[in-house]
Amino acid sequence: MTTERDHGAWTTEEAWIETRKPLDQTSGLPAECYTDADFFALESERVFARSWVCIGTVDELEGRPGPSDDGPDRRAILARTVAGRSVIVTTDADDRSRGFHNACRHRGTALVDCDGSIGSTIRCPYHRWAYALDGRLIATPRFDDVPLADFDRADYPLHTVRIEAWGPLLFACLDDDVPPLADWLGDLPARLDGYQLGRWAVRDRATFTIDANWKLISENFQEYYHLPFVHPELAKVSPVADHYRFQGPGMYCGQCTTPVSGEDRDEWTAMPPADDLSPSDAASGRFIALFPNLLLSVLPNHAFAMILQPVAADRTIETGVWLIPPNACPTDDEFAATRDFWIEVNSEDIAIVERGQRGLGHAHYTPGRLSPRFEEPLHRFHNLVADRMTGIARIPGGDGGDHLDRHGSGVNPLPWEP
Ligand code: FES
Ligand SMILES: [Fe+2]
Repeated sequence: MTTERDHGAWTTEEAWIETRKPLDQTSGLPAECYTDADFFALESERVFARSWVCIGTVDELEGRPGPSDDGPDRRAILARTVAGRSVIVTTDADDRSRGFHNACRHRGTALVDCDGSIGSTIRCPYHRWAYALDGRLIATPRFDDVPLADFDRADYPLHTVRIEAWGPLLFACLDDDVPPLADWLGDLPARLDGYQLGRWAVRDRATFTIDANWKLISENFQEYYHLPFVHPELAKVSPVADHYRFQGPGMYCGQCTTPVSGEDRDEWTAMPPADDLSPSDAASGRFIALFPNLLLSVLPNHAFAMILQPVAADRTIETGVWLIPPNACPTDDEFAATRDFWIEVNSEDIAIVERGQRGLGHAHYTPGRLSPRFEEPLHRFHNLVADRMTGIARIPGGDGGDHLDRHGSGVNPLPWEP
């Protein structure tokens, strides 16, 4: 789609005047933010290259093959994409997660094609330069047959990428100036502490290719205006009137449902709940859009994480991961009921966001107003995008509130002031 807007303008506050207005005056983002290839490229650099981006789950690094017949133990190595760059992730001898740009320091060859396993070194397939698990260059076959001037292997380690974990989720950050993941998460770990998500295990995964911009998918996850119309069955266990703010400081947009009802559909309550939950956690669904690309639903007896990987303005790969608390051990049938329910709900969401993408791309659309009651999280989300696009590195605070707010029974809405 062509646009008359100067693409450089997206890095100035003038481009975001409508977004910066208070909740009851604001509008959605312009169509170009979802459809324009130049905006997508700029957003990749200013948002995804400067954020903690979810790239998978910790267990993917732990799933190592055993000792091979002809060598030492092997360990998992992952190849993931962050802001268009290929990143490899593995563990060192001390089991610390390590991330590197996927390019040999000789002539740039991609070291790894896809997820797999390695021994004690990362070896380039081209001229067999080898790197230790901490990234040091340790072998350069026949490179000094004729001596080079001023060549020291120590000057050519792999370029590192920051890797951190939050519970079962794995994150990468390309920018050394972004604060640690703990700062990015804000009060989320404290809010969700009662679930002890670090002990939950991955039960299943599924991948979806969605013909829609990543922000449309995130926005659709965050707002509950569409629930009764797009998900009549979901609305029976997550009624729109029982949605509340769940918002504190941190790079996330949160809301929750209290109570999660099992009266009409029982798929969400088929599995046993986690042990020792507080009365609030035991009765609630927590829905967190951790900026930019993790959509996390935490229920008393399972969690469903959706990890978004933008591949084009109008295409996103979504990886869904189901997590189960350690005591649950659901049968295959019990788990299948929950899984199939999510697949059903997700299919409805995919259909509507793809339809939204088609409308944004085809129609003469100008942004419409947002519902303060049902679309409040989008206002915060749009301002997080605007912050990154304009180079503002702040991590926003919460929007006030007391103990009741934190547990999903606060007044709704309270607008967030950018
Ligand atoms: S490009 Fe990797 S060893 Fe030559
Ligand atoms: Fe939905």
